[in-house]
Amino acid sequence: MIGSFDFILPTKIRYGVGMLKVLGEELKLLKANKIMVITDKGLVNAGMVEKVTKILEAENMDFIIYDGIGPNPKDYNVEACAEVARKEFIDTIVAFGGGSPIDAAKAVTVLAKQGGKARDYQGKGKIKDDCLPLLTIPTTSGTGSEVTFSSVITDTKEKFKFTIKSTAIAAKTAIIDPELTLTVPPLVTAATGIDALTHAIEGYTANCTEPIAEALGLFAVEYISKNIVEAVKNGNNLEARDNMMMGSLMAGLSFSHADVASVHCMAEALGSLYDAPHGLCNAILLPYVMEYNLPAIEYKYARIARAMGIEEMDDCKAAMKGIEYIKELSKEIGLPGIKALNVNPNDFELLAEMSVKNGSNDSNPRKISKDEYVLLFKKAYYDNN
Ligand SMILES: [Fe+2]
Repeated sequence: MIGSFDFILPTKIRYGVGMLKVLGEELKLLKANKIMVITDKGLVNAGMVEKVTKILEAENMDFIIYDGIGPNPKDYNVEACAEVARKEFIDTIVAFGGGSPIDAAKAVTVLAKQGGKARDYQGKGKIKDDCLPLLTIPTTSGTGSEVTFSSVITDTKEKFKFTIKSTAIAAKTAIIDPELTLTVPPLVTAATGIDALTHAIEGYTANCTEPIAEALGLFAVEYISKNIVEAVKNGNNLEARDNMMMGSLMAGLSFSHADVASVHCMAEALGSLYDAPHGLCNAILLPYVMEYNLPAIEYKYARIARAMGIEEMDDCKAAMKGIEYIKELSKEIGLPGIKALNVNPNDFELLAEMSVKNGSNDSNPRKISKDEYVLLFKKAYYDNN
């Protein structure tokens, strides 16, 4: 039996090379009068934000830029940004960037209208529908945040990443233009690409998944695994960038309708304790969680391996080859092991405790305890260089 589920698509997706040109048209449809563009300083300095502001100027639109969002967006970042949005009477938010500016922007849409602290909205269903309208423009292929209902924010006092989850904070419109990713550096392409691959695998295998999310996840695995090496090694290959963007989008749709699972529980713990790049944390942990989950979902892992191009009829062998392939893939695209994060093994107990408390822990396809998380952190540490 398939069972019953809801599949909500609150975001209008406009996809394609050169699609950024529809920004003015889409903002008019949202009845935008005063716009805040939320982004980061790196994109301002690289001249990328100009691509957006030129369009807004040509359309005579009133806007301000907020570039105070750093990696792993912090509670005080989004609260300060929401304060500016209120003072400036902002009525529409444009999020331009990777996962950090987009996740931050989602939190700002609710804080600017409903007040309070970011953590007040942790979990599901804490938000009234009255949020500022959001238009997202991703500049990396990884997060999927342009179409998901989640905003992951770091509580800086507790050093803990928490998630705000509601369709009320989802973008009204996502403009997804693969051309914007052409200048993403190789290591960022690699890390964000493995983040997308993790979304695809966890969206397909989470124990709360359903057939539409499964289909999106499995197809995303194919797009990503067949293009990630080329996108990393030859960044100006627009076809590879296009396919990575589609893979990231499908993976985002998959996990937002299912969930992520233990890879993200561990990666978010690592990311919040060491302020480490999210994609890299996922890359480090993905094969070890897959080894742990293998006995519970051998058939699904075999299908993932085949989607990655591994020809093997026996499910168990295919699944194991798939896990090895992912380990090799991370090395091939230049991602370092866990020791590059200067992780202290004395923190494994704390990291495991944080992982087990993560809101997605129950979605892992195999039940997992704190002690098992400790073992997985140890395995990732002692296997890696
Ligand atoms: Fe992620």
